[in-house]
Amino acid sequence: MSAVRVAAPADADAIAAIYAPYVRETAISFEEVPPTPAEMARRLTSTLEIYPYLVFDDGDGVLGYAYGSVHRAKPAYRWSVETTVYAARHAQRRGIGRALYTELLDLLTRQGFHSAFAGIALPNDQSVGLHLSMGFVYLGTFAEIGFKHGELHDLGWWRRTLAEGKPRREPIPFKSLSR
Ligand SMILES: CC(C)(COP(=O)(O)OP(=O)(O)OC[C@H]1O[C@@H](n2cnc3c(N)ncnc32)[C@H](O)[C@@H]1OP(=O)(O)O)[C@@H](O)C(=O)NCCC(=O)NCCS
Repeated sequence: MSAVRVAAPADADAIAAIYAPYVRETAISFEEVPPTPAEMARRLTSTLEIYPYLVFDDGDGVLGYAYGSVHRAKPAYRWSVETTVYAARHAQRRGIGRALYTELLDLLTRQGFHSAFAGIALPNDQSVGLHLSMGFVYLGTFAEIGFKHGELHDLGWWRRTLAEGKPRREPIPFKSLSR
């Protein structure tokens, strides 16, 4: 059985613990203060209205998570989705990112989204490697768009086609997708 499942508010502690060191110690996330578990629970609950929010749970605990989010709010963007993935620091290069993204991209495709976009603060060989291996194509870089820990940071953008051709229907909210 796959270790990937839909997140629940009870996963918020584990998700917050995975994310916190990346926020505190790196510029992988442009967030500056690690969100509390309560804030993570709020975020995942609101995400699940529209987008998948998945965790990788090996039976002993949550080791990674991935979710979709709005790219930009204006209505014509609504077939585009941004994707995010994190694996616990002690559990990298074990296939967790790939397992999460495989399921996430499949669900987003079934919902009817057209393109997935990922913004990666550079350099990040792990994330670039994962996205390339999942079929994302490099688009370009927003230079010096973030300033964190006293340094300017570039953000590279990658895109993955989810469906060919023009969208023929509205994306289905994740909460309404039959699973
Ligand atoms: C990016 C991340 C989610 C990848 O997840 P992971 O579980 O470590 O990666 P996987 O084991 O699933 O690797 C899948 C593929 O990604 C690529 N990859 C993973 N780590 C890599 C690395 N260090 N260098 C180059 N390619 C890498 C490889 O193609 C790999 O396939 P392979 O192992 O068969 O060669 C994880 O490393 C992570 O959480 N990093 C820190 C947070 C982060 O950068 N998140 C993304 C924000 S944009």
